[in-house]
Amino acid sequence: MSTSTLPEILTHVDAGVMTLTLNRLERKNSITAAMYGAMADALESANHDTAVRAVVIQGHETIFSAGNDIGDFLNNPPATPESPVFRFLRGISSFPKPLVAAVCGPAVGIGTTMLLHCDLVDTGDNAAFSLPFVNLGLCPEAASSFLVPQLMGYPRAAEALLLGEPFMAETALEMGLINRIVPPAEANALAQRQALKLAAKPLSALMETKRLMKKGNAGMVAERMAEEGASFGRMLQEPAAREAFTAFMQKRRPDFSKV
Ligand code: COA
Repeated sequence: MSTSTLPEILTHVDAGVMTLTLNRLERKNSITAAMYGAMADALESANHDTAVRAVVIQGHETIFSAGNDIGDFLNNPPATPESPVFRFLRGISSFPKPLVAAVCGPAVGIGTTMLLHCDLVDTGDNAAFSLPFVNLGLCPEAASSFLVPQLMGYPRAAEALLLGEPFMAETALEMGLINRIVPPAEANALAQRQALKLAAKPLSALMETKRLMKKGNAGMVAERMAEEGASFGRMLQEPAAREAFTAFMQKRRPDFSKV
């Protein structure tokens, strides 16, 4: 059964698994406010729909997501906690049922940070993760300023978040961000198999186990996400981000010498 009305986010429910597919290849699956809204709605519906027992988030075998749509962010910056991007982040970080991601190719910004809230992440060997917030004059989101140092230790978090250096699937596996690496053409199918395995288990036991595993971090994640969101929203309007975003649109290197 297909449930989405937005062509850039395909939503499909089958055999207890809801699959959310980022489908905006011509813009490298960058995510607009409307897409965040559709993903937030889909997660909310998956949460309440007793027929959904697990969710898969996937992209294309060449690209997971180029992160926020930069033009959309410039024109419609998320101004309040109810903005679609923040609704999506609250939805994914508190989603109570199992979440599986299939990631191939670049996963930029929120393309990587959303994975911190997935239970299993299966990737193609072409997966490339990056957290270029500083390079864009921004700060981290999705509680990644808390979860990334916790996951990989401060020195490597500093490389990822201060230098904004990309890292490949092998490194992500070693750091504990992802579960498995397969050829790109097999990643989505592997994620489906894992989700189907989860969907066959008793949902109440899965949900309680997930809740207990996440309990230690839950309060801090919510608190940090709100603090990051306030800073992120403010920084989007400041000269550094405007220069970075304008430079991207104009296909030139940003000049931060005056910010
Ligand atoms: N927002 C808006 N448009 C984007 C985009 C984004 N985040 N990422 C890519 N696009 C657009 C490009 O501008 C380009 O448009 P054009 O065809 O009109 O020139 C098109 O998508 C193809 O992108 P391109 O950069 O040519 O593809 P690539 O395969 O060479 O590189 C990426 C792919 C993802 C590595 C690269 O596009 C990239 O770094 N994007 C920006 C990522 C980013 O900074 N995201 C913000 C995080 S907050």
